[in-house]
Amino acid sequence: MLRSSVSTHQKYGSLGLLVLQTTTLVLTMRYSRTQQAEGPRYLASSAVVCTELLKIAACTLLIFRDNRFSVHAMNQTLWDEIVSKPLETLKLTIPSGIYTLQNNLLYVALSHLDAATYQVTYQLKILTTALFSVSLLGKRLGNYQWLSLLILMTGVVLVQWPSDLTLVPELENLSAGTQFMGLLAVLVACFSSGFAGVYFEKILKESKQCVWIRNIQLGLFGLAFGLTGVFAYDGDRVLTGGFLQGYNSITWIVVLLQALGGLVIAAVIKYADNILKGFATSISIILSSLISYFWLEDFDPTRLFFLGSVLVITATFLYGFDQKPVVSSNVA
Ligand code: C5P
Repeated sequence: MLRSSVSTHQKYGSLGLLVLQTTTLVLTMRYSRTQQAEGPRYLASSAVVCTELLKIAACTLLIFRDNRFSVHAMNQTLWDEIVSKPLETLKLTIPSGIYTLQNNLLYVALSHLDAATYQVTYQLKILTTALFSVSLLGKRLGNYQWLSLLILMTGVVLVQWPSDLTLVPELENLSAGTQFMGLLAVLVACFSSGFAGVYFEKILKESKQCVWIRNIQLGLFGLAFGLTGVFAYDGDRVLTGGFLQGYNSITWIVVLLQALGGLVIAAVIKYADNILKGFATSISIILSSLISYFWLEDFDPTRLFFLGSVLVITATFLYGFDQKPVVSSNVA
């Protein structure tokens, strides 16, 4: 009984944290890529590397805590679980490589598309995630749950729909070619998001290894892929302007929020699942729009926004109503 209430706390606690983290990240990331700062813009590829470093450091601290703050016990755990199990560690190259690609694609998308189009099209990942959950994890979804996922996707799309396209100033500055690049980047990211998330869930739930160890394994490969990305795309710029060129406090906030997101998402995938993660991020989109309305005063809610919000909330309840059939055949 106590155990199940602890895991319920962990499940809803991690989902709640994800709502907060996504809301803040969406608002800050957009701002960080569009602001007119003096000097060079920061390199997105280096931000990916800094995020991985922070995630590895944070997970190492969590393992240090789990080992009652003994450096010796922590080193032993890291050695036993990471170095001595090379095959287990290597499994993480797949989600890690895909996430690295995805993180770079999303930076591309955010600087080629207006925020609304980016958010609307990225919602397709709700369906790709469900499809991968069914095919890779053997998860079974009831009819109401499929319906609720369709309602959720429609709801989030409506919530994001711009009130008047001519009033979106960013759109006027974007050529058709630029927008096409952005759309392509988002579409590939939808599939990579669904696949990598579900593959990571499979690894987490099929073995007994601690989630923070798994995250370090993921981060180590992410770091290797990320550094390759820096030298392949921005090698010359790093040599002339330095690795951290263009960083300001907003950039560091984005990096911190991304790293925090990595930890929260790992917890959500462990204690809840990738599909529930989709609900949490959808709710955070409504929340970030409301914050734009009340605080930033750059958003006018339309009837579509209200209709979309009602659909998202309805979908959330409908999915929970049909929880029983969510049984996975091959996941412990
Ligand atoms: O859009 P989506 O939900 O797929 O994004 C997942 C994000 O979470 C990616 O940026 C990925 O790098 C990150 N992540 C992480 N650590 C995990 C799982 C995901 O940093 N354990």
